[in-house]
Amino acid sequence: MNIGIDRISLHTSNYFVDLRTIAEARSVDSDKYYLGIGQEKMGIPPPDEDVVTLAASAAYPLMQDGELENVELLLFATESGIDYSKAAGIYVHGLLEMNSRCRTVELKQACYSATAGLQLAIGFVARNPSKKALVIASDIARYELGSPGEATQGCGAVAMLVTADPRLVAIDSESGFYTEDVMDFWRPNYRSEALVDGKYSTMVYIHTLIESWKQYAELSGRTLADFGRFCYHIPFTKMAEKAHQKLCRKFKVDIDKDTLTALLDESLRYSRIVGNCYAGSTYLGLTSLLDTAEEDLAGKRIGLYSYGSGCVGEFFSGVVQPGYREFLYADQHRILLENRTELTYQQYEDIFNYAVPTDGEEYVFPQYKTGPFRFSGISRHKREYESLVD
Ligand code: CAA
Repeated sequence: MNIGIDRISLHTSNYFVDLRTIAEARSVDSDKYYLGIGQEKMGIPPPDEDVVTLAASAAYPLMQDGELENVELLLFATESGIDYSKAAGIYVHGLLEMNSRCRTVELKQACYSATAGLQLAIGFVARNPSKKALVIASDIARYELGSPGEATQGCGAVAMLVTADPRLVAIDSESGFYTEDVMDFWRPNYRSEALVDGKYSTMVYIHTLIESWKQYAELSGRTLADFGRFCYHIPFTKMAEKAHQKLCRKFKVDIDKDTLTALLDESLRYSRIVGNCYAGSTYLGLTSLLDTAEEDLAGKRIGLYSYGSGCVGEFFSGVVQPGYREFLYADQHRILLENRTELTYQQYEDIFNYAVPTDGEEYVFPQYKTGPFRFSGISRHKREYESLVD
């Protein structure tokens, strides 16, 4: 029985800042961002958008299409948690009016947790083939203003429906995965911005890729020539390109610039203008690939690499299903990305520094443009969400 991704839908903020604006404010050559790290824009969430509203908005088209019937497992992957105790997915479950017969849990391991969620969901469907699982990755990437990481911020959520006989991508059973206790990127509970040892993190990303690939290749018998496309975790697009070049070099496969572009570029298009979505980044890449590839990818095997600092990595793969294009939300994604509002530097900094009171008393957020749901306020330490749709 094939099991895998049946539908995939994304949401990001309606606001973005252009990296030329950041470059000017930091007196840096904008080519460092546009060419050096391969990023052009980054999504910036307004105060009334959080991981819950991003996630619920990402999954909303599935609700509208009646796809959430029979979902008995909701896995919410994030490293931007809003509560030490209650799973953010439960708010999403409520906003989407899902069935109460549903297990709902939040998963954390930096940017890797959605892949853990996907694999757990596949196990669930293998045991309950008539049931579905919903995996949502939702994150807001924040680094200190003026830090080297600043240009690699972003935000977004990707919702994936996992079923038997999936209409988009059947996930292969072989997988290579690797854990090692390292401090390349982390965020202590008392901080709202991540800390990172930037250069070291890129080295650990590559090391973990090579270890994961070695296992995958041994288990599957496949080589790097067996893939139609690759889809990497994308903290910034240059990272994915460098990772693939290094993997090829390590295993003595020649790769020129054109081949690299042909294998990766479609998967990098959304990330280049949305930025890092941490747990969602690999799947933002997969959505970008499926939505924007001009070639019909049906029957092609996609190699996927997921990396979460700290660290866990996994290399796995999936085969694109015939007729997949009919089940994409490509038009909605294009409209969302084309109609965002650009922020000035001052607006970006004001939103970044917007401080939500922590006394838990009554608080109402100003209304910005969000998707179908917004984080409207706080009352007696309880977060309040508002649905903007009937
Ligand atoms: N024109 C063209 N290119 C230029 C340039 C210019 N004017 N100026 C600089 N560049 C190039 C540099 O040569 C460099 O390219 P190479 O790497 O090929 O040498 C590139 O632009 C970046 O320049 P620096 O190395 O000087 O950049 P930096 O040190 O200021 O920051 C970074 C880079 C360390 C990755 C930083 O962005 C960072 O800390 N990011 C956050 C951490 C991160 O994303 N790590 C990735 C792996 S960890 C992970 O994947 C998990 C996760 O999501 C966080």
